[in-house]
Amino acid sequence: MESLKSDFNKYIAQASVFEAFQLEVARAEGIYVYDKFDKDYIDLMSGISVSNLGHRHPEVVKAVKEQIDKYMHVMVYGEFIESPQIKLAKRLAELLPPQLCMTYFVNSGSEAIEGAMKLARKFTKRSEIIAFKDAYHGSTMGALALLSNEDFKQDFRPLMPDVKLLDFNEISQLSAITERTACVITEVIQAGRGIVVAETEFLKALRKRCDETGTLLIYDEIQTCYGRTGKLFAFEHYQVVPDILCIAKSMGGEMPLGAFISSAKIMDCLNGSHPLYGHATTFGGHPVSCAASLATLNVIVNENLLANVESKAQQIRTLLKDHPAIKEIRGKGLFMSVELNNPEKIEEIVAQSMANGLITFWFLFNHNSLSVIPPINITSEEISVAMQRFSSALNSGLL
Ligand SMILES: Cc1ncc(COP(=O)(O)O)c(C=O)c1O
Repeated sequence: MESLKSDFNKYIAQASVFEAFQLEVARAEGIYVYDKFDKDYIDLMSGISVSNLGHRHPEVVKAVKEQIDKYMHVMVYGEFIESPQIKLAKRLAELLPPQLCMTYFVNSGSEAIEGAMKLARKFTKRSEIIAFKDAYHGSTMGALALLSNEDFKQDFRPLMPDVKLLDFNEISQLSAITERTACVITEVIQAGRGIVVAETEFLKALRKRCDETGTLLIYDEIQTCYGRTGKLFAFEHYQVVPDILCIAKSMGGEMPLGAFISSAKIMDCLNGSHPLYGHATTFGGHPVSCAASLATLNVIVNENLLANVESKAQQIRTLLKDHPAIKEIRGKGLFMSVELNNPEKIEEIVAQSMANGLITFWFLFNHNSLSVIPPINITSEEISVAMQRFSSALNSGLL
């Protein structure tokens, strides 16, 4: 077993030099990940907003097994009629506002963003794409062009041209959106910036400006979908509906899946005499992933899980609010972050959390804050244990 870690470093291309995270996973169940010594770690990251129902939810596992017993891959996306895709797309249409009624399934968040940008350019016949600084929309060449952080982009130029970046929540900058703009892409809550929530007036003004200029509004709800914030989709907190909705991560119920969702009118422009005139994907909407996704949706809705998300978030806030290492607690529902008074201690706190049996981490563009993003079905008792482990790790930020 000892050789697994050295083989990991030898054979798996490494994306990060940070060692504290090299947890050797033996199994995972509910809110816990277990290592090879059977030590448990409470997952306060949910695999970066993926495991909203915890690990291996029995209903999801059952749906996956049932689908595997019928068929797995049969044909590239959209050529055969596959019931797991159809049932899921139909259920999503029932749960979303009427204009968001048609789904294109893909494999990941990045691919959902790529597909949405292609759709917007094709539909509007315009080129310019506007996004907001400190957002992360993915690592593919197109999505990368939307990043404001030079360090992430500089080695990959030339990137997709005709991209403009504005400041999030700055209504005064929205006049930059014009009749040249194909689409504006935004997260409803900026994740990589350390959980920064959109102001209602900002989203309303953005919707208005997009309507005035015939620009499509795209929401990246790749981290916030499927109940993370206490609504099935975070935009429901605002009543400001996008033209295209991108989802992924938790939508797959721990299986790889993404989607961009729009109206029949907009989606219709993808339909051409060849699939590649629109978008093509081999594994997009994989039947096993779609079965897992539908089971996840059904558990969230049928067990009324959303009703308790806010009270669980309040319990966390109450347990953490007086901790002297904490400067601020941000977020909506169980999409939370904790900003530290002493950010230079953050690596120590992450390492101490791991030692205490708790998985948390800082954010892509915010090294002062730690994630508090547990499975949304975490119980009150589990929250108490998690916050004990977290508080004791935070104490190392005071030394
Ligand atoms: C907000 C947001 N958008 C897009 C993506 C890209 O998703 P994926 O990694 O599935 O390609 C991520 C991934 O972390 C994300 O957080």
